[in-house]
Formats: sequence, C-alpha cells, structure tokens
Amino acid sequence: MTSKVSVIGAGNVGAVCAQRILEKGYADIVLVDIIEGLPQGKALDMLESMPVFGCDRRIIGTNDYKDTANSDVVVITSGVPRKPGMTREELLQINMKIVTEVTQSVVKYSPNCIIIMVTNPLDAMTYLARRTSQFPKNRVVGMSGILDTARLRSFIAAELNVSVEDVFACILGQHGEAMVILPRLTTVCGMPITKLLPQETVDRLVERTKKAGAEIVGLLKTGSAFYAPSAGAAQMVGAILLDKKQILPCAAYLDGEYGIKDTVITVPVKLGKNGIEQIIELELTPDEKAALANSAKAVDELVTAMKLS
Ligand code: LAC
Repeated sequence: MTSKVSVIGAGNVGAVCAQRILEKGYADIVLVDIIEGLPQGKALDMLESMPVFGCDRRIIGTNDYKDTANSDVVVITSGVPRKPGMTREELLQINMKIVTEVTQSVVKYSPNCIIIMVTNPLDAMTYLARRTSQFPKNRVVGMSGILDTARLRSFIAAELNVSVEDVFACILGQHGEAMVILPRLTTVCGMPITKLLPQETVDRLVERTKKAGAEIVGLLKTGSAFYAPSAGAAQMVGAILLDKKQILPCAAYLDGEYGIKDTVITVPVKLGKNGIEQIIELELTPDEKAALANSAKAVDELVTAMKLS
C-alpha cells in the first residue's frame, strides 16, 4: 500500500520537502497550511510536474487537518523563520504556540504516525512535540543533524577536492552555537580530517558550520535556509518508510543515554519503520562528554523557558 506523508507548513521548507519526497516516490502527500490557497496552489503545481518525472504519487494541498488522517509520517515545518540578527532561541515563544497547536491537530487524526520536527528552535520544539503528543520517544524525531553534518561535509569536500559522498561528519548536541562538532570522528575514507587538514582549516570549517544557518539568513535577509533542511527531512522520511535502519544524526529524546536525561539533542540514531529504533552511544572523551552535557544544558534552558506543566 502507498504510504502517506503529511507536511505541515507550505512555506519554503515545507513545500520543497514535499517536492523532494514526491519526486523520490516515497509516498502520497498532503501539504497543509493555514493560508487559504497556498498549499492547494503549490500542491497542484507539483502534481502537474509528476508526468515529467514519470512518477504516480499524488499530492493534495489543504487547510483542513482531516485530510491528514492516518498519515504514516508527519513532517512539521510550521513556524516563523529567523530574521537577520535573530537567534533560533528568540523564535521560542512564537513557535511554541504554533507547534503545540499543530501537534494536537496532527495527533488527533494520525495517532500512530511518526513526527519529524523541523521547526526551530529545533531541539526544544522536538521536546515540545513529544510532550504534547504523548507519543513514545521513538515516534518523535528532529531534523537538524543531517543539515549540520551536510554543511560540514560540503565544506570539507570542497577543501580536499573529494566527493561529498566520501566525507562522513560527526556532530552531536544542540542545533545552535552549542553544537558539538567532533573533527576526530569526521573522516574521509576512514581518515580523520585532523590528519588531512591543518588545524587552522579544521577550526575555520568548524566555526563556519556552527554559524552556517546565520550565514544563509544574512544572505537571504527575508528568511532562512530551506534547500538543505528540506533535503534532511526528506532523507529521514525515506529512511523510515523504506525501513532502511539507516544511522543518521537526529534530534532524539534521551533517557539516560550519554548520561543525559529528559532532554532532546542530536545523537546518531537508527531510523527505520518504527522511527528511532536505536540510539547509538559513541565513545566520547571526557572533554567531549562535558561539551555534550553543556550543549544539553542549552536545550534544557529553552525547555525550562517554555514552562511546560
Ligand atoms: C538553519 C536554520 C534553519 O540552520 O536552523 O539554517
């Protein structure tokens, strides 16, 4: 049977995410937005492109959550994007209201779905969606690690003049300045980049990766990144629907793993038909562990600021 994916939010991230999922043929799609005509128009335009791709998947646009009923996966992109100079944290109060309402509507019609959160501040919104949905922790997962690692991978590939496919990057923790980038575990053909690049270059690429979201906000001026974020979310949808058991860096609720409890940060997880099927615990040095604990603390502060009962 064809899978069903709902994408909530027909802005740049949501619409391009829907397009990517559709063109891969993973599922039929329901694109939802509160703005009348916007999801309908974008969905119709995408539907009309399908003969060109030779793909028989369908997409509809709607303002009514009823149409999302019995989705296998729901991608939540709703919310306000960053403006220049704004941190992801400043989005907290605005987006928490939106994400709470969206999650309630999603759960009402798709009580068995897997939620992929994309809205910022990512880790806190993933925590919020889990709390609001009351879903088990394997069924709420956040997209940011694929984005952050893809950015670093693209920078390293350009620096070393190798294929992006040959670069593996390891990033854990918060999606923000407190992200923990591990050059020691970032490799090209098994070789750590610390052996392939001078320290100054490694430091420069690490810094650029931490600020990569802001770099794009600064250039676009009226919004934030969407091509790479949507690619990350679509990859997660594929891993789940195809039951790939793919190990990807994703924001997950931790319950003691890495010595961290009751918060959401990015760690390597195994994604398959049940969502997060395993959390992979890497062996970290004491310094790395401390950095990760700090990163988790940054998320905790946002979670506390939400004053969830
Ligand atoms: C970024 C924003 C969207 O990293 O979080 O580009």
